[in-house]
Amino acid sequence: MTRSLLLIGFALAACGPLSEKPLGAGLPKNFLLGAASAPHQIEGGLHNDWSRWEEGSFPDGSPHIRDGSRSAQSARSWELWPQDIAALEELGANSYRLGIEWSRLEPAPGVWNVEAAARYREMLIALRAKGIEPVVTVSHFTLPTWFADQGGWESEEALERFAAHCRRVGLAFGDLVDIWVTLNEPNVYALFSYATGQWPPGVQDMKRATRVYATLLHAHAVAAAALRETDLFDANGDGHATFIGLAHHVSLIQPASSSPLDTAVAAATDDYANESVPRAALTGRVTLRVPGVIEIDEAVPGLKGSFDFLGLNFYYRLHVRADFSSMSLSKLYVPEGHQVSDLGGEVYGDGLYRVLKRYGGYPWPILLTENGIADATDKQRPKFLQDNLRGIERAVAEGVNVGGYFYWSLTDNFEWAEGYGGKFGLYAIDFSEPRRARVARPSSQVFRDAALSANATK
Ligand code: NOJ
Repeated sequence: MTRSLLLIGFALAACGPLSEKPLGAGLPKNFLLGAASAPHQIEGGLHNDWSRWEEGSFPDGSPHIRDGSRSAQSARSWELWPQDIAALEELGANSYRLGIEWSRLEPAPGVWNVEAAARYREMLIALRAKGIEPVVTVSHFTLPTWFADQGGWESEEALERFAAHCRRVGLAFGDLVDIWVTLNEPNVYALFSYATGQWPPGVQDMKRATRVYATLLHAHAVAAAALRETDLFDANGDGHATFIGLAHHVSLIQPASSSPLDTAVAAATDDYANESVPRAALTGRVTLRVPGVIEIDEAVPGLKGSFDFLGLNFYYRLHVRADFSSMSLSKLYVPEGHQVSDLGGEVYGDGLYRVLKRYGGYPWPILLTENGIADATDKQRPKFLQDNLRGIERAVAEGVNVGGYFYWSLTDNFEWAEGYGGKFGLYAIDFSEPRRARVARPSSQVFRDAALSANATK
């Protein structure tokens, strides 16, 4: 008895508890460890619905972009992309999530921009040459102006237009790309573009927002089919030509109190914002409910089976209380005294672990397509990275299938309605400086060390 206890003790000491291993050593084999970006936020020189929106203001006169800035040249990654790749190499990243901008590739309906496609190919080839696996987002919020003018995602032609674009994309880049993110955060897009009206096209209508949310799931299904049809090339030699998902924004939702009303509203918010997407991909039916406003329960052709992975973007925990004066019947807030990022999102150390445990029950491997913090002074980011990477290691040790982690973001960039106000980058950029030098923040060392340990154990 004593002897076997001793042996168990010895075995535990030999393996060492997770926290004693260097950060990164507990990540699984072939884990994709990298950073993420999106075209409109870094490339510069774009003309799409967002660049147009940036020029305008709300009826009360306040500018659409809080600090009055424009995406304009942004991080200039359209020219300076080799510097982004150098930064990834410096970080020891083995993967990079980047986007290919629809408005650039298809500037007018059916017109394919050969030069733009050639530049993206150059980037993808350079990434592969450095052993960095590209994970490519086809649509990250922005729309070509012609598509937006036809009614955007509300147009009857939207799905066919997007499918046609995806077929071109699959043909043009399929030999270089295996891992595809069809769409970024359908729930966030629907909320800001159609419910709160803070993003283009500036609509405030919960019914239309919910319809667009559902349409984006249809769009994902047609995109997945189009990519599978046209990308037949196994670029990374893992036996699969495509590995497809979307980037679903999830938050942890905490009821404000245990009252039946707060609990019910929190559960309804959670279902609408978080659960509805993976459930739809599992069942092939989208079910979205806003009491008294709209109820959608419909089959989505091709949705079932369209996920090869579950892409999750996780940032914060939200506290929810019932509020019948609001369109969504709820009020989201962060309690006084809780740690927050520069943009006010709650920083919650156990959050990522809890998210992984929750979504680990679905039948797909999880790719953490985004996780990051706006932290200009870089005071919070080191611990943020440690907590979140440890959270992954812990979830993995408990059996959750996690295939990758992409820190948001590689560099500072244009943070939508916040302009240049949110500093998420592992690399800082001074946007008043023409060279847009990428300057490593001290916290990037945490990432680098983790990447080194991850690689050393493989
Ligand atoms: C998620 C979005 O995909 C990305 O575009 C945004 O910059 C980050 N969240 C940070 O807010």
